[in-house]
Amino acid sequence: MIEATPETICKDLGFHKDYIDFTHLRNTSIHFGVNESHDTGNHVKYFNSSKVLIVTDNGILKAGHLDPVVNSLNEYEINYEIYTNVKENPSTDDVDECVEFAKNKSIDLIIGLGGGSSLDTAKGVNFILTNGGTMHDYRGVGKATHEMLPFIAIPTTAGTGSECQSFAIISDSASHEKMACGDLKAAARIAILDPALTTSQPRHISAHTGIDAISHAVETLVTKKRTDDSIQYSRLAFSLLNRSYEKMVNDPNDLLARSDMLLGAAYAGTAIECSMLGSAHASANPLTAKFSIPHGAAVGLMLPHVIKYNSSIEEISELYDSLSEKSLSNRITSLLKISNIPSKLGDYGIKNESFKDLANEASGQWTGNFNPRQTEHADFMNLYESAL
Ligand SMILES: [Fe+2]
Repeated sequence: MIEATPETICKDLGFHKDYIDFTHLRNTSIHFGVNESHDTGNHVKYFNSSKVLIVTDNGILKAGHLDPVVNSLNEYEINYEIYTNVKENPSTDDVDECVEFAKNKSIDLIIGLGGGSSLDTAKGVNFILTNGGTMHDYRGVGKATHEMLPFIAIPTTAGTGSECQSFAIISDSASHEKMACGDLKAAARIAILDPALTTSQPRHISAHTGIDAISHAVETLVTKKRTDDSIQYSRLAFSLLNRSYEKMVNDPNDLLARSDMLLGAAYAGTAIECSMLGSAHASANPLTAKFSIPHGAAVGLMLPHVIKYNSSIEEISELYDSLSEKSLSNRITSLLKISNIPSKLGDYGIKNESFKDLANEASGQWTGNFNPRQTEHADFMNLYESAL
């Protein structure tokens, strides 16, 4: 049993409460601790909810992670409905199906339990239940005009940081285009971070999502939109993730390492809220779309090359150096090796004849606009060449 708070976990890293808020990230209060999910009913009670919608998937059900949440709601005599059909990379059709399930059930609070897909689906359903229309109406930022239901996020992976973000990423069912639908009202009011929920993941999923979180920490540190606050969250996130990634890969049941990873992912997610992402995500997204490379593996593969590319700007190079005494790009490559994630495009059978199409897609990615160094089509071609 770990008796620790975010403050005590972060203190020895040199991060102190007088200049960084560990427990209230923008709109979201953090409740952290091993078995914290067993107290879900107590958190729900705070909102005087009479009927909760739990949005999750069958894998979570089979892993038994729903049990402590439901047991706690029963303990507090709170009614609930459970939707277990969340799909990976949720689409507009997937959100509509969950809305159909939930409507006319007098839902007054939503719990998202699972990975980023469950949390995004829960946010999407909240938009439509409270403001009507379709997900397309909420594309962009701040399109919801009515208040939204209180949302409690309970992540079971340390990766996207969706629990600390106001965006739902939902893909258009027809075009498969990913839509970012953001509104501060959609952010979780409470994030319950229970490291015990993350130990059941297959090792390769923990590795992919962990590298994704590390990439969030590194990319948010340097974007054009970075702020003094976001830089603090990026640094804190990287420190936690960097010190525990290898331990987590070697011993999936190491709860201290899992704690660092879960907190680190949440802080990196907080940094994304202010700072957005950069060209590692812009160049990785087409690799996932065209070659089905898992998101974290694709971003991790491209990140060392984007670090080198951005390092031509002295100020950016100094920011990278603030994370790591040795070469940051080498450190990322070594983290990939530790967890058997390929570090070259050739390892996936990708050849340079694909680079033109990939660069076309990459240069159209919204997220690339925030990269500190302008990245044009020819630059993406060079980045893919260097990653071959
Ligand atoms: Fe990511």
